[in-house]
Amino acid sequence: MDFPKDFIWGTATSSYQIEGETPEAGRGDCIWGHFARTPGKVVNGETGSVACDHYYRYKEDVALLKSLGVNAYRFSVSWPRVIPDGTGKVNPAGLDFYSRLVDELLAANITPYLTLYHWDLPWTLQEKGGWPSAEMPGWFADYTAVITNALGDRVKHWITINEPWCVAHLGHLLGIHAPGLKDPKLAYRAAHHTHLSHAAAMRVIRETVPDAQAGITLNLTPSYSASDDPQDILAAQYDDGFSNRWFLDPIFKGKYPADMVELLSEALEGIDLDAVSAAAVPQDFFGVNFYTRSVKTWNAESPLKGESIKQEGAPHTAMGWEVYPKALEELILRLHREYVGDLPILITENGAAYEDPAPVNGVIEDAQRVEYYRLHLEAISNAIAQGAPVKGYFAWSLMDNYEWAEGYAKRFGIVHVDFETQKRTLKRSALSYRDIVSGVKV
Ligand code: FCB
Repeated sequence: MDFPKDFIWGTATSSYQIEGETPEAGRGDCIWGHFARTPGKVVNGETGSVACDHYYRYKEDVALLKSLGVNAYRFSVSWPRVIPDGTGKVNPAGLDFYSRLVDELLAANITPYLTLYHWDLPWTLQEKGGWPSAEMPGWFADYTAVITNALGDRVKHWITINEPWCVAHLGHLLGIHAPGLKDPKLAYRAAHHTHLSHAAAMRVIRETVPDAQAGITLNLTPSYSASDDPQDILAAQYDDGFSNRWFLDPIFKGKYPADMVELLSEALEGIDLDAVSAAAVPQDFFGVNFYTRSVKTWNAESPLKGESIKQEGAPHTAMGWEVYPKALEELILRLHREYVGDLPILITENGAAYEDPAPVNGVIEDAQRVEYYRLHLEAISNAIAQGAPVKGYFAWSLMDNYEWAEGYAKRFGIVHVDFETQKRTLKRSALSYRDIVSGVKV
């Protein structure tokens, strides 16, 4: 593995997954709190009410980051912590928390990468229509200005929205994530407004923090066809449209993919599709979250979705996701060729959940996660060697946390968290990541 000297090495987290809800600190409710408290939505009915208690333990967590030797940290701001009702009155304690966190990071020589939206929409905005509402870009721009004005003097790296695919599809089409809706029309309106909100936030960032570097983060899941049969190839093409191109094409080309527009015509009724041309604003980097691939075969009853074929015999994580690092290498090369050109790519999330063993001599020996990271970093190193502009990598996640609809059972951390005591314990993957980051050949 070979990485440039100035490579950005970080870990990533998000507000709802680690902070704790802390209503006592003036934070408003969010769609995830609501969703999680609804019976049957999250494994064991678990919520982010305490999570990793990071709101109170952020100093300890920054110290952990420092001990790992990373030079960057990606976190998200909780919109309802800062503006409890989504619009209007600001909660000073909320802003102050992020200000203190940023200062702590800078004092540790760790560059903050701030994500504005990682899924915790203020509940009051959901009551006003949420992402499907045409008012979202305006609300998001106003919220962005509050954050850039407060932190833009110190935070120079900004990510607008995390994984719009999940916001739209998991939240509004499949009902697996908050707000738990299953309505194609709402889902494609939500997606449309993530594109426009990204553009609106970029405009605010440019105006208020002229020396900022900013971009969006998409989750991309490459689709492979199960065979050379033209029907299977078409199934993979549609799946790519659904998972990837619906988000890539607006952001980089200012238009929706034509094949998908035709397939989705009913769900798209009433959306001004041409308006998406506004989404293709210049970015300073492009964030990619990668976990796995999908393998598709044709399904006549559901041409759009096709059918996923589980790769029996291949390694899978505790999420049931296939470990297939080659897809990351191929994805990066495709992005370089078809979308980003020489725009820097940051891998803003990559990692794996496994059932970890009990600690031995104070360390958790998570050999599978160590191997997952090694293989994916090797894939990135291969892509760089072929000319792809990957400039940084953020391990998901710094520590075990609230894994959305899976609750606390699925552990993605390189640091173990005991949710009873809040004790943090290093896993072997944290130690091996520290070696990689410090340039030790692994
Ligand atoms: C991504 C999310 C992140 C985490 C990982 C496992 O989709 O951005 O919050 O849950 O998956």
